[in-house]
Amino acid sequence: MNVHATTPAEAHRLDEPTSVFARDVIGDLSRAPKRLSPKYFYDVTGSQLFEQITRLPEYYPTRTELGILRDRSRSISAIVPEGAALIEFGAGATTKVRLLLGECRLGAYVPVDISGDFLNAQAKALRADYPGLAVHPVTADFTAPFELPEAIKAMPKVGFFPGSTLGNFEPGEACTFLKSARAILGKGGRMVIGVDLEKDERTLYDAYNDTAGVTARFNLNVLHRINRELGGDFDVGAFIHRAIYNRDRHRIEMHLICKKALTAQVLGKKFSFRPGESIHTESSYKYSIDRFSVLARVSGWNLLESWTDQDAMFSVHALVASD
Ligand code: AVI
Repeated sequence: MNVHATTPAEAHRLDEPTSVFARDVIGDLSRAPKRLSPKYFYDVTGSQLFEQITRLPEYYPTRTELGILRDRSRSISAIVPEGAALIEFGAGATTKVRLLLGECRLGAYVPVDISGDFLNAQAKALRADYPGLAVHPVTADFTAPFELPEAIKAMPKVGFFPGSTLGNFEPGEACTFLKSARAILGKGGRMVIGVDLEKDERTLYDAYNDTAGVTARFNLNVLHRINRELGGDFDVGAFIHRAIYNRDRHRIEMHLICKKALTAQVLGKKFSFRPGESIHTESSYKYSIDRFSVLARVSGWNLLESWTDQDAMFSVHALVASD
């Protein structure tokens, strides 16, 4: 992650090699219906826009999760065994973990992130702020298997995955991620994970359709990115942001809707759009505690404890690996 990627959980999504970006964009726009992966939102501009989103009055998840971590830090930290290694998947700016560090008696903190320079700067800052804390950064894409540092191999292990990034995974991907985290953390492993909750449609709709239009700019930015990095020629002004709640699938869907018939090319490949045609750019799944508990169970985890804010907007869960 670089300095612009202020979103801890998304930071791993930066630094994708251009060839992978090109392959994914061309493949995803060739499908019917068209789509783009949300991981490509987070270039420098996209990361700055996401940072703005987290401070919008309508966007409740970030401040609500921070409130839970702050208010319940003692009970959340109680599930972390003394001397454990706390492994944060997609650590980014390490803002949220700081709310727990004062309460835990850790053997080590292992931030995992794809952007090595930013990660090492964060590790240095943490060592200065928490003298005595062993910090072992790992530069890796946490969605793929990675090796833990030798120094923590004998310690009990607890994963930390805040931000409801799990909600941006399709249910099958969420299951694959949780299984892989289970394999990395091993027998007896534990996990603290933030998950956005299902709620009334108005609140959900407003969170993704802010009046200032920041989410719209965030969504449209992916087309600017394609134009800039892949030599695309999208007429970005011909697209509008649309976010809707799909109640049957328990998810917010973000789309870019093409207002008129047009053709755009990316790396010489042409894509035609009909008026009203959509590019599906993101799903943000919302869970009930029961549905999350089922997902965890089929992915090798048992729910130990859940914490929510008083309005039950957001949840933080403690999981333990099943045998
Ligand atoms: C990063 N992720 C959890 C955000 C979400 O709410 O799904 C991304 C986002 N998309 C639009 N607004 C925020």
